[in-house]
Amino acid sequence: VILAVTLNPAIDVTYYLDRIVRHSGLRVDRVLERPGGKGVNVARVAASCGADVGATGLAGGHRGERLRAGLAGYRIRDEFCPIEGETRQTVNIVETGQAGLPTELREPGPAVTQAEWDRFVARFPALAAGADVVTMSGSLPPGVPAGAYATLTAATRSVSTARVIVDTGGEALRLACAAGPDLVKPNEDELLAATGASKGDRLHRVLDGASALRDLGAAAVVVSLGRSGSVAVTPDGRWRASHDAVTGGNPVGAGDALVAGLALSAAGQPMGGQPAGGWAAALSRASGLAMASVLATSAGEVDPAAAERFAAGIRIREIRGRDR
Ligand SMILES: Nc1ncnc2c1ncn2[C@@H]1O[C@H](COP(=O)(O)OP(=O)(O)OP(=O)(O)O)[C@@H](O)[C@H]1O
Ligand SMILES: [Mg+2]
Repeated sequence: VILAVTLNPAIDVTYYLDRIVRHSGLRVDRVLERPGGKGVNVARVAASCGADVGATGLAGGHRGERLRAGLAGYRIRDEFCPIEGETRQTVNIVETGQAGLPTELREPGPAVTQAEWDRFVARFPALAAGADVVTMSGSLPPGVPAGAYATLTAATRSVSTARVIVDTGGEALRLACAAGPDLVKPNEDELLAATGASKGDRLHRVLDGASALRDLGAAAVVVSLGRSGSVAVTPDGRWRASHDAVTGGNPVGAGDALVAGLALSAAGQPMGGQPAGGWAAALSRASGLAMASVLATSAGEVDPAAAERFAAGIRIREIRGRDR
């Protein structure tokens, strides 16, 4: 079982229109609405690969209800906890007559009270106890303490041998590392912001930053580098995954697909061991899913057959010795 945590989920609303003209009324051709937020994307990708997946976090109001009701359609078990505040929405505007990325409006999310957070923390161990892997993704809503992922990592440790994977940035990432998660997955910006690593060329900066997060307490670090692939720094060695760029798709949520792939490989593996088939196999599978998610137009949606084709073409190189 993979349990995907999203403390600040969203209803994703996508507007399709020809192009944005500021200060004018615009005709929308099509509107699409679906459950969203980083952990929900992780859950959706893992479920589409056939995994047994539950999603939890904080959801409230009418949007919270719609979000929870929408999970079943993706074969995701709803384990969300209710809160008073209204779940946020994220508006994406896709300009069909223009090249380039969508315009995204990201709301901060509802304020969470101390009592609501305490209730979630009290309920969480029962959920984590049934999981092989717990993923924790995204920003924290106002009112949730910066140490939230550290708290949930410790809570997971107290009830199970589940793998913990954390995908966030800033102070939440630094504090989470100190609780000893099995894996953290920052992108390059998140890594550099959290560690201040700034010396040398790109690979050396990334290796230094990843080592800094391991020094804080994360067992393994996978740094995603957008179209340039990723770097894994683990207790078993260091690897560089590279592949061709996918052009014309939507890279938003590729990191979530990468996390889903890493979670799939971690599921069912013994505590402290390598992922199924080793790190190289895990990186290939996860990178294939990430590339397939770029190809798909909306975040968290992948074609598993395309992902397998991409995975077969991922180049993995071990980074040896003092090459850092
Ligand atoms: N344009 C692209 N072409 C091919 N692969 C890509 C592209 N963009 C991203 N990827 C793949 O997806 C992985 C994750 O991407 P990225 O580093 O952009 O994650 P991210 O910034 O965390 O994204 P998000 O938070 O939106 O999910 C990369 O390691 C890479 O394998
Ligand atoms: Mg990300």
